[in-house]
Amino acid sequence: MDVNFQKELIDYISKNKIKPTCKVVTFGCQMNAKDSEKILGILISSGFEEIDDEQKADFVIYNTCTIRENANQKLYGHIGQLKNSYYNNKNKIIAICGCMMQEEGEIDKIKNKFPFVKLVFGTHNLYKFEEYLYDSFVNKKKIFEVYNDNKIIKEDIPKKRKYSFKCGINISFGCNNFCSYCIVPFVRGREKSRSSKDIINEIKSVVKDGVIEVMLLGQNVNSYGNDFRIENINELSFPELLKEVSKINGLKRIRFMTSHPKDFSDELIEVIKNNKNIARHIHLPVQSGSNKILKLMNRNYSREYYIELSKKIKESISDISLTTDIIVGFPGETEEDFLDTIDLINEVKFSQVFTFEYSKRKGTKAYEMDNQIPNDIVKKRFDKLLDTVEESANYNIIKKIGSIEEVLIESINNSTNNCTARLSNNFLVHFNNNSNHIGELVNVKFNESKGFYYIGELVNGIE
Ligand code: 5AD
Ligand code: SF4
Repeated sequence: MDVNFQKELIDYISKNKIKPTCKVVTFGCQMNAKDSEKILGILISSGFEEIDDEQKADFVIYNTCTIRENANQKLYGHIGQLKNSYYNNKNKIIAICGCMMQEEGEIDKIKNKFPFVKLVFGTHNLYKFEEYLYDSFVNKKKIFEVYNDNKIIKEDIPKKRKYSFKCGINISFGCNNFCSYCIVPFVRGREKSRSSKDIINEIKSVVKDGVIEVMLLGQNVNSYGNDFRIENINELSFPELLKEVSKINGLKRIRFMTSHPKDFSDELIEVIKNNKNIARHIHLPVQSGSNKILKLMNRNYSREYYIELSKKIKESISDISLTTDIIVGFPGETEEDFLDTIDLINEVKFSQVFTFEYSKRKGTKAYEMDNQIPNDIVKKRFDKLLDTVEESANYNIIKKIGSIEEVLIESINNSTNNCTARLSNNFLVHFNNNSNHIGELVNVKFNESKGFYYIGELVNGIE
C-alpha cells in the first residue's frame, strides 16, 4: 500500500503542536529555481513556515549547482557556517540536493567534511522528497540517496511560486549534446521531454492562478520531443509547442531558454515572428567565435553558421534582442582564437553577454585536454571581453531612447516608490511608481540609458 507521506507529516506536526520553519537556498540556473519551487511547495503544504534565516530554520536545504568549480566552494562555505546552529539545535535538518550531488565522489566528501548533514538526494529523485522529508523529520533517519538516471517525470508536485505573475515551466530535462567542457549531461542525464499535453495543462492552470508570463525551460529547448520521435511516438516539435502555448488565453508573454544554435530552425523563427506574445528575446549561447575552439568544444556549428543565423533572426524579427554565453580560456585558446570571439561579438552586437572563465570539470572531455590556459592570461582576456560586451550592450540599449513600450512591472520598492519592469526584449527599466502593481503591464517611456537598463517614466498610452 502506498503511504501518503505528506498526510502523515501534516498529522505529526499538528499532533505535536509544532510550527517548524524552513529555508530553501538555490544556486545556479532557472532549472534549479524551478526545482526549488517544488521543494518549497512541498514544505509549505506539509506545514512548514518559510523564514529567511538559514541559521534559525529547522529545515535548511541547499539546491546545488556544479557547472563551475567555484559553485562547489560556495556550498562548502555555507554549510560550514551552519555547524554551530546544528549543535545548538540537534533537531535541525541540514539537507543538500541538486546537480552537485550527482557528481562522483561528492557524497563521500560531504559525509566526511560535514557529518551533521542529514539528508542528501540528487536531481533524479526529487520526486521522492515528501518521503525523505517525512523520514528525516519524523523518523530522524539519515538519508543519502542519489539515482543515476531520470526515467521518471512526476507530474502534479505542489509548487510555491516565487512570483505570482510569472513562472518557469519545464519542457525537458537533461541534455544529449556533450559539449566537451560541460558537466550537465553527466549530472542531469539524457534528454527527456514532458508530454506537450502535460505542459499545456500546467500552463493553463498557472494562467488561471494569475500568471501572465511563462519561461519554457530545457537545457536545449530546440530538441524538444526528439526522445519521443526516436521511439516513434507522435509529439509536437518545439516550434509547434510554442505555437500552441502562444494560443493560451490570458498568457501575455512567453519566454524560453536555452536554445542551441545547431537546432534553431526557420520554422521557429517564423513562429516567433508571427506571435506577438512570444518575447522579443532569444538567448543563443555561442561560447566562442573561433572555429578551432568550437570544434574542440563539440558545438557542431561554425562561426560563419552562427553569424548567418543571427543575421537571419534579426532580419526576420524586428526588435529582437540576442543574448549569449561566452567561455574564455578554453584549453588551446590562442590570442588569435580569442580575438575571433571579440570580432564575433562586434559583428553580432549582442544585447547582453554572460561571460565565464573556463572551469575544468572532472569527467568531461576537456578535462583531459592539453594546453590548459594559465590564469593570468584568462584574466586579461576576460577584462578585454567585458569592455567589448559593454560596448555591444550599449549599442542596443540606446536605440530605444525616447520610445514608449509596454513593460511588465516585476518589483516595487515601497520606500523609494521605484518600479523595476522588464521589456519584451529582456532589458530592464526603472521608473517612478504611480500606484501600479507588481505583475501589471504598463506603458513606459525610456528617457535615459544607464548601460544595462533604462530610466523611464510612466505614460498613459502608446503614441
Ligand atoms: N566552464 C565555464 N563555463 C561553463 N559553462 C558550462 N560549463 C562551463 C565550464 N566548465 C557555461 C556555458 C553555458 C553556461 C550555462 O555556463 O557558457 O552556456
Ligand atoms: Fe552543457 Fe552543451 Fe548541454 Fe548546454 S548544450 S547543457 S553547454 S552539454
